Amino acid sequence: MRLFFALWPPAAAAKALAGWARAVQKESGGKALSAEKIHLTLAFLGKADPDQAGAAAREVVAEKFEMPLDAARYWPHNRIVWIGAEQVPAPLGRLAAQLHAVLRGRGFALEDRPFAAHLTLVRKAGRPAAIPPLPPVDWPVEEFVLARSQTLPAGSQYEILDRFPLAGAG
Ligand code: 2AM
Repeated sequence: MRLFFALWPPAAAAKALAGWARAVQKESGGKALSAEKIHLTLAFLGKADPDQAGAAAREVVAEKFEMPLDAARYWPHNRIVWIGAEQVPAPLGRLAAQLHAVLRGRGFALEDRPFAAHLTLVRKAGRPAAIPPLPPVDWPVEEFVLARSQTLPAGSQYEILDRFPLAGAG
């Protein structure tokens, strides 16, 4: 199975982001992601065993945080429009670093490229002529998830396999 760890926004946040993605798509072309597909990847495992991945994730101890979404960018190298944070919140940096360390310690091969916190919102995009104002998004991050990615004729499909709560008052 093709697996990855991710943060999945609450339904209301995903809906606001999907609306923004459709507005950008008018400028950029390409394909806006629908609300249920929107996520922030923490670690991409590729083909891996879900039980082993889950066991690794249960070793992670990280705290809850509020996700700021205040940056919108276009990446020409992979032709995506994405939203993220101008400054990666410290707890998100710690969560990603710890997850990567635990996974590497258990023999998972991760890519060497640095963690880039982003939510892909439009794929196969051209450079948007204008970026619409960012929607206000309320996203208290209280868990991370293990997800499966399948490439089907209709595009990538994601299925959440397991959830891992974050600690703290939050
Ligand atoms: P992307 O949105 O920037 O394409 C599922 O494929 C998720 O894993 C996507 O969010 C994707 O990021 C991310 N990902 C990271 N590395 C990947 C890789 N080598 N192949 C496919 N997806 C990858």
